Amino acid sequence: MDNNPLLETRDLRVEVSGIPILVGVDLAFRAGQVYAILGPNASGKSTLAKTIMGLPEYRITGGDILFNGTSIQNKSITERARMGIAYAFQTPPRISGVKLDDFICRVCPDYQCTDVHDALMGETCVCKQILYDDFERLGIRNLANRDLNDGFSGGESKRSELFQVLSMRPKIMFLDEPDSGLDYDSLKTVGRELKAIKEKHDVTLVIISHHRYILEFLEVDAVYILQRGRLVYTGDMSDIPVLEEKGYEKFLAEMTG
Ligand SMILES: Nc1ncnc2c1ncn2[C@@H]1O[C@H](COP(=O)(O)OP(=O)(O)OP(=O)(O)O)[C@@H](O)[C@H]1O
Ligand SMILES: [Mg+2]
Repeated sequence: MDNNPLLETRDLRVEVSGIPILVGVDLAFRAGQVYAILGPNASGKSTLAKTIMGLPEYRITGGDILFNGTSIQNKSITERARMGIAYAFQTPPRISGVKLDDFICRVCPDYQCTDVHDALMGETCVCKQILYDDFERLGIRNLANRDLNDGFSGGESKRSELFQVLSMRPKIMFLDEPDSGLDYDSLKTVGRELKAIKEKHDVTLVIISHHRYILEFLEVDAVYILQRGRLVYTGDMSDIPVLEEKGYEKFLAEMTG
């Protein structure tokens, strides 16, 4: 295994609207591994992922983000996405006027038509049939012709968001609470889908979550805990039952002294 990280943050400092949120985060994500990022509410988990993705409100004031050893600070969101970095939002944005199936066919390599006659997604388009089978598997076939997240239920928008990100076949994906708002059946569907993607593609998964259920579908290589804008603990899944029992304050006080 290549021991160099695929992506790393070095002493990363970030502020939003002039307020420091991340105050020096050192993290490393290696190719093909699975990571869980945990931490109390407002500890900076989403901020970390959004900064790595390059969202403009998240201003880097110090440190760096390296992808394959090279800084990506000056790269746009589009460039980062093309390099293979993806982020599934905690709260997926609504985009009126853009249909889910059309959007996916345009951005996701697996569904792009190679036949010029199919390029407008006619009913006979093979890619569209494959896409619809995949929609069916994630239980979102009913959303195919609707505007992105417009009136989707909480669970529907999470599954649609996950589907979009998975379909882009990224090298590393940050999934921001992919389990939030999902019922028991949807959790299983999403957990199995993540496992299948992991087995099929050599992707790095970074899952931000407050619950272990979704993580148990995967073999998690490392668990990172953020607190007040810092990485304060690195462990593994065996820590989670203890963490659940004690809560963050007590767990971290005991573990980090
Ligand atoms: N765009 C923004 N504008 C203003 N404040 C922001 C913005 N984004 C993040 N923050 C602030 O940064 C802090 C960290 O937020 P962040 O969303 O990263 O937390 P989190 O760890 O993901 O929490 P949660 O578990 O609740 O999702 C919070 O105090 C939040 O209010
Ligand atoms: Mg968050």
